Amino acid sequence: MAKLPRSVLVVGGGGREHTLVRALLASPAQPRVICAPGNAGIAEDVPCFAIAADQVAELVALAKREQIELVVVGPEVPLSLGLANQLQAAGIPVYGPKADGARLEASKIFTKQLLLKYRIPTAGAAFFREVEPALAYLNTHPVPIVVKADGLAAGKGVIVAQSRAEAEAAVRDMLESGRFGASGREILIEDCLVGEETSLLVVVSGRDYVILPTSQDHKRIGDGDTGPNTGGMGTYSPAEVVTPALLAQIERDIVRPSVDAIAAEGIEFRGTLFIGIMLTPQGPSVLEFNTRFGDPETQVVLPRLASDLLELLWAAARGELAGHRLAVKPEHALCVVIAAKGYPDAFRKGDVITFPASLPPGVSILHAGTARNADGHIVTHGGRVLGVTALAPTLPEAAARAYAACDAIQCASKYFRRDIGARQLNRR
Ligand code: AMP
Ligand code: GLY
Repeated sequence: MAKLPRSVLVVGGGGREHTLVRALLASPAQPRVICAPGNAGIAEDVPCFAIAADQVAELVALAKREQIELVVVGPEVPLSLGLANQLQAAGIPVYGPKADGARLEASKIFTKQLLLKYRIPTAGAAFFREVEPALAYLNTHPVPIVVKADGLAAGKGVIVAQSRAEAEAAVRDMLESGRFGASGREILIEDCLVGEETSLLVVVSGRDYVILPTSQDHKRIGDGDTGPNTGGMGTYSPAEVVTPALLAQIERDIVRPSVDAIAAEGIEFRGTLFIGIMLTPQGPSVLEFNTRFGDPETQVVLPRLASDLLELLWAAARGELAGHRLAVKPEHALCVVIAAKGYPDAFRKGDVITFPASLPPGVSILHAGTARNADGHIVTHGGRVLGVTALAPTLPEAAARAYAACDAIQCASKYFRRDIGARQLNRR
């Protein structure tokens, strides 16, 4: 493999990016790491530049000016805006797909058509631009049923409707009221799948891929998986519901055919294919593709890698992933997201966060929505504020350590779920 890059730019400013920065800093190659825009916690680790993740031209200029040798893109929006295309055109290696690959996340209809064309397991669906045919379709299909906006909607464009009235309201919201703007101009109406969900992160480079350790997210805001969907309130890894036999089945029926299908469509994909999977009684089925690392899946997956993340991402970015071997730690990781009270609806910003002087062993605090106020205090600045990740020999120990740290962090608007990992803990 070519010499490892000496300088890396991480694009984004959430918990996922803080985790990426930490893992890259841990590389034996000791690269210089910078971040844009970052957050208050990332800025304690590496230099941050005040350029938003969707300012594509400015990011390319920054990479050139700072003589960056590898760009690692966190969020989906810059990918769909063609950041990877522009970096490649400027001769800068990038981890993250070009706009054609990012469509796998930016258009649910595009992805559904690909899955159906290549007979990859997924829920049946129909596509609509007009209200009347969509309502007629609802009349002939049982509830629950799932209504999805085609485009990016920050995780809010999916309604799992329990009644016909709810489904109809979702259809009207998207196609008539323009609730999601251009993203909702076309919709999917999809059969509802039941089962447990899991997120599989796959590092892809053309037809080569490496499957990262399994994990499970907790998407609802409340304990016991209640209340509205969020970006993710906590994760753990490994997800033991994905047994080795099940993982082999997922690789055979979903991962290999998906990677081949993407290549066969002429897309040169170098980045993370995040496969959302429902483990149904009939077998695993694809819920969605994302074309980036998950947040907060990354916060538990990367700390479990024993091998060098820089080497992995560099190999993928350069099309040299074939034969790459991953070493994984036996420890369990668990991440509790601390959010601002009110999230995913309206929440306050600017509450001071006080951190404990010492943390339990194996605990790291990863910043998401944080900033520094005029007095130099770290304050809340987003819906999801912190991720508290613990690594321990067992899952119960990881949970105990993460929750001890969560309790020790002080903030007036602190909110977190108390039951991260419960599914697996209760199964034992
Ligand atoms: P997506 O962004 O497509 O993954 O959807 C977000 C969430 O909605 C998923 O994590 C599932 O919890 C749920 N969901 C999406 N599609 C379906 C489906 N066909 N059946 C049941 N739940 C679904
Ligand atoms: N945690 C789910 C996501 O990153 O989309």
